[in-house]
Amino acid sequence: MAGPKIIVIGGSLRTGSYSTRLAALAVKELLLADVEVNRVSFEDYEMPIYDANLENKSGPPAAAVKLKQQFMAHHGVFIATPEYNASVPPLLKNGIDWVSRVRERGDPPYAAFKNRPFALGSTSPGRFGGARALIALRQILELGCGALVLPDQVSVAHAETAFNDKDELAEQPAANALRSTLQKLVEMARLMM
Ligand SMILES: Cc1cc2nc3c(=O)[nH]c(=O)nc-3n(C[C@H](O)[C@H](O)[C@H](O)COP(=O)(O)O)c2cc1C
Repeated sequence: MAGPKIIVIGGSLRTGSYSTRLAALAVKELLLADVEVNRVSFEDYEMPIYDANLENKSGPPAAAVKLKQQFMAHHGVFIATPEYNASVPPLLKNGIDWVSRVRERGDPPYAAFKNRPFALGSTSPGRFGGARALIALRQILELGCGALVLPDQVSVAHAETAFNDKDELAEQPAANALRSTLQKLVEMARLMM
């Protein structure tokens, strides 16, 4: 049987974004683990701010439907996010909110979040590495969307110096945490295939 397919999502559009670097590194690590990986940027999934009037008028935007289908086409999800005011950035929250509203024919509610594990990573120039964003993100995914979120996670602090010139994590503890989080994600995705 072919290995699991994992989707990696970055929570920032900023040029030079640290969480995009973390997402890119996660892709690299997953490829080494012989896993099929696809990376998603919200750049390719532009969505308006969620508005119930808009939804009532024309349903979720095409990008939300497309992103939901991407989730469904993969066996596991890794999200790398920044931290905004001790929480999840609006770009990511908005994307999750819209995807949570997509219900294609025959789908149970929150189909995109079911039957596949999620694993989380964050990074920030601060000393917490965005760990508080992961608390919020875990709440959104687990309590809001009914997703299985693995207990393993990685938060990369002092992001300006955390990556070396090969775009790897310079410090062993962070590198190990990323590797073991991804390993657990692949293991669980394989079990749930
Ligand atoms: C509105 C806003 C709020 C922020 N709040 C936090 C915060 O609570 N904790 C933190 O560590 N960094 C915070 N930052 C700094 C971000 O971590 C930093 O801008 C980071 O580079 C953003 O992630 P990115 O590099 O992936 O774009 C905030 C930045 C913005 C714009």
